[in-house]
Order: sequence, then C-alpha cells, then structure tokens
Amino acid sequence: MQTYLIANWKAHKTKHAAQQWCTELSARYPIPPVRVIVAPPFPLLSLVRATLPQVWSIAGQDVSQFAQGAYTGAVTADHLVDMGAQYVVVGHSERRHYFHETSADVAGKVERAQEAGLTPVICIDTPYLDEQLAALASQDLSKGIFAYEPLASIGTGNRTDAGTVRSVVDAIRQRTGAETPVLYGGSVDASSVAEYFTVCSGALVGGASLEPSSFSELIAVLK
Ligand code: PGA
Repeated sequence: MQTYLIANWKAHKTKHAAQQWCTELSARYPIPPVRVIVAPPFPLLSLVRATLPQVWSIAGQDVSQFAQGAYTGAVTADHLVDMGAQYVVVGHSERRHYFHETSADVAGKVERAQEAGLTPVICIDTPYLDEQLAALASQDLSKGIFAYEPLASIGTGNRTDAGTVRSVVDAIRQRTGAETPVLYGGSVDASSVAEYFTVCSGALVGGASLEPSSFSELIAVLK
C-alpha cells in the first residue's frame, strides 16, 4: 500500500522561507522514499510547485465547498488544480475550531475536490468520526485518504500511542474498506515517525515540517 508523508505548514512562511525550504529539501531528496505532499498556504502554492521536483506533490490546506461563483474570499477546487495541486486537506480540526466548519461543510468540500480531480485528505477525530462518515455516506471515497488527528495530540507534544492509532485506523477501514489509506497526525517527529508507519499509511506533520532540518531528519528515518 502507498505510504504518505504530508507537510502541513499551516499559516507559516512567506516567499523567501518557502523557497529556501523547497530548495534544501529537493536537493537532499530529489526522489523521496515515500510520497511526500507539501501543503503550503494558498499564496505560496505556485512557488512551491515551481521549486519542487514533480515527484513531490502539493496540496491545498482547505478548499471551498462551493464551485466558482459569488463567494468572496473562497478558493475553489479548480483554483487548486490550476496551481498544480493533486491533493487537498479538508476538515482539519483547526478549521472546525476557528472557522466553525461542520461535517456537512467538510462533505461539500470533499465533493468539490473529487469533482475537480483532487484527492481529499479528510481529517477526522473520534468524537465526530461517525457523524463525519455519515455526512460522507453518499460519496465514492475509493480515492480518498483519511487522517486520524486526535485533538489532544495536535501541536502539544502529547503523541497518541501506536496501539490506539492502529485501533482507530481499523475502525475507519471497517467503514470505508480495507484499502483506504489512513494516516496519523499529532506531534509526529523524527523520533516517532517510523513507528506510525508500521500501524498506518503515513503521517500528517505540522510543527516538525517547518524547519528544513527537522523535516529532512524525518524523511531520513523513512529511507
Ligand atoms: P503537529 O500538527 O504535527 O504540529 O502536531 C499536526 C496537524 O495539525 O496535522
């Protein structure tokens, strides 16, 4: 099964730092050992796409649940495709918390993403797992990726143990199919990434993806 490592920069970096990151990482790993997906802020997507080799993939951190139209400030799935993205992260808990996104919103985003040919990376945590899967029930998720992102582990240093991750991965796959890629995200760093790759399909990394050195160390462990 394909494995994935996603660098979620969140609302960090401007052009210079992004360029430096991409130049350093691509010099070190022209062909990464797993599928590496970089999710920069929207305004940096084209720079990141132009600087990284094509074998590195890029993702939006969010997408509008609306297609093009009178939605001021929205970024559509077609915009992301046009920038060279192949993936989009949807339903991150920070979007739920700060921007009040609901499971129905997330289902709309997944639908727009799939219509445009993007692969959605659907973030999920156990308190709303059932609700989110129910909201997605009418959609063909055979090309979707899930990321188990326990709130208590995001940005806190309190990693969720691999046994718990395995049980949640199994619970998601029972509902979506044995082949569904399910990643883990929450304080993953170079000391823990290899263990998570033994129980799930990879990792979604925030803090440890920001510095070129820390993300390089993380990839080095997976070689
Ligand atoms: P973190 O973020 O690695 O900084 O905990 C993970 C995430 O939010 O996906």
